Amino acid sequence: MNSAWILDSPRLRLGYLPTPLVLLEQLSAQLGGPRIWLKRDDCTGLATGGNKTRKLEYLLAEARQSGADVVVTFGAVQSNHARQTAAACAVLGLPCHLVLSRRVRWQHPGYESSGNVLLDRLLGAEIHLSDRGQVADTAKALLSDLRAAGHRPYVIPAGGSNATGALGYVRCALELVQQSTALGFSLTQVMHASSSAGTQAGLVAGFAGLLQDRQGPDQRPVPQVHGINVYEPDPETLVANVHRLANQVLDEKLPGARVTNRDIHVDHRYFGQDYGIPTAETLEAIRLLARTEGVLLDPVYSGKGFSGLIDRVRLGEFHGTEDLVFIHTGGTASLGVYDAAFDAPRSGKL
Ligand SMILES: Cc1ncc(COP(=O)(O)O)c(C=O)c1O
Repeated sequence: MNSAWILDSPRLRLGYLPTPLVLLEQLSAQLGGPRIWLKRDDCTGLATGGNKTRKLEYLLAEARQSGADVVVTFGAVQSNHARQTAAACAVLGLPCHLVLSRRVRWQHPGYESSGNVLLDRLLGAEIHLSDRGQVADTAKALLSDLRAAGHRPYVIPAGGSNATGALGYVRCALELVQQSTALGFSLTQVMHASSSAGTQAGLVAGFAGLLQDRQGPDQRPVPQVHGINVYEPDPETLVANVHRLANQVLDEKLPGARVTNRDIHVDHRYFGQDYGIPTAETLEAIRLLARTEGVLLDPVYSGKGFSGLIDRVRLGEFHGTEDLVFIHTGGTASLGVYDAAFDAPRSGKL
């Protein structure tokens, strides 16, 4: 297995890695399908953890190398990426500015003050709340003020999803190959909530680069990565973003290796009304995992993603698959601002 291209990239250690890969025994028995394994990326450690920590290890290494003295990033008001960036900057002693946009139609009196926003503040970040159409102007003014004051800002795109950030999930692909081998199962299917494409692109590029064109006795299959779309109203946008970003990573790190559209699996069936609005099945998935395994999911990402896993197993779509991995990408810091959702009538499906 060729992993040098991953291990050689500059990285800061910010997370508790590798995260555990655990078997959900009760849930697997209850669903009656494949054995379900949970990759605990909600346990990466930075201020309640989550998938962005892996990306920030590479992004902030680049920030350090570039001589930046302040970090600016973007997200929705309850952004988990923004909160983990604030935490990473606290660790590194870098001032952190968060441009948070009002783009989710969820009503809660604490939406702009508790959950992730409370944590951002505790972590010392400066918050710039902005209406959706004003983000570019807010960012432009902020960056020009910072530069005028003599700072050298490092700008991280929303979700940390560029070719540098995606390396975090290339590394996760390597961890999954190593852990599944040590645990003695064949890694063929991986699922997770997908939005800004960096997680899925990193995994797809990682598995392709690690496992394709192998010589000799190593005949492990290239796992399929299923992104449950929680963000893009048009799933083809997510497919295109993942495809482009995965090949950008490979072009930079492993020239010659490519992925095609056939390697990108985006599932739009669980999207519901909109980004940030949980479906009845999302809430039921959160309850089910909490009550069978004592693990918490979130209403925007991991709960919606997991509702897809539950439904697809029930539909028999993984018939013949022995082991299925779900990556828990975190997000539970926002649970409190969705408390009212759990009072609503239940769908009765779970
Ligand atoms: C909890 C959680 N899960 C999943 C995702 C999706 O990751 P990506 O943006 O890399 O697609 C995010 C992104 O914000 C997230 O916060």
